[in-house]
Amino acid sequence: MTGEHADRIAFIRTHATVESPPLTPELKLWLAKEATELWEATEEFLAEKGLPPPFWAFAWAGGQALARFAMDRPEIVKDKRVLDFGAGCGMVAIAALMAGAKDALAVDLDEFAAASALLNGTENGVMPKAFAGDATTLAPDDFDVILAADVCYDRRQADPATAWLRQAVNAGTEVYIGDPGRRYFPDEDLEPLADYDIPTPVALEQYPITPTRVWRLTAS
Ligand SMILES: C[S@@+](CC[C@H](N)C(=O)[O-])C[C@H]1O[C@@H](n2cnc3c(N)ncnc32)[C@H](O)[C@@H]1O
Repeated sequence: MTGEHADRIAFIRTHATVESPPLTPELKLWLAKEATELWEATEEFLAEKGLPPPFWAFAWAGGQALARFAMDRPEIVKDKRVLDFGAGCGMVAIAALMAGAKDALAVDLDEFAAASALLNGTENGVMPKAFAGDATTLAPDDFDVILAADVCYDRRQADPATAWLRQAVNAGTEVYIGDPGRRYFPDEDLEPLADYDIPTPVALEQYPITPTRVWRLTAS
């Protein structure tokens, strides 16, 4: 473990606690306990250091839906090479491994997210791989299944993510997306697969329940 990785793990252990998200009680994840307070405190602290906001400190509605879906429908990931695109805390990669995936790579732009995916893997007795970087630089055919949860909230990230996911599906890789109707979610080539009503902190999502859907992206 490098010194920087150890520092990030220590930071997560200091600023988060082990929680089970409402839709995936079987997962244990290091998350912000009081979503907003700790989120804001952590965000401020990280901003001072020029680091991105702590998306890894929350199990987003899209991630909960896609993790639930993978665990309830293990055949979509069983024995497959899985990519968790925009992994945050890594919950989708972890759920895929628990459902029998051959391997799972959790990729996020944020180094803290990569550290948190590894820490959370250990917490759940599985070992995702983690990579901090831009998932759109990866070769889609290195994966059998791509799972992308809640990556369409910001146009600068959603547009390239969607374009790359389309490229992947057109090349023959299965792509599943979990999304609660974020602003930049694509509106075509989508097959709805499952709906969930997810309890979410009002301060973070505006409503106590966030309806969230899992889709399969279809070839165009
Ligand atoms: C709202 S969070 C969702 C995290 C997790 N999937 C979940 O549902 O809990 C979105 C994450 O996507 C990551 N992200 C967006 N575009 C990305 C890209 N091109 N490559 C890697 N990560 C990306 C962001 O850094 C952020 O951590």
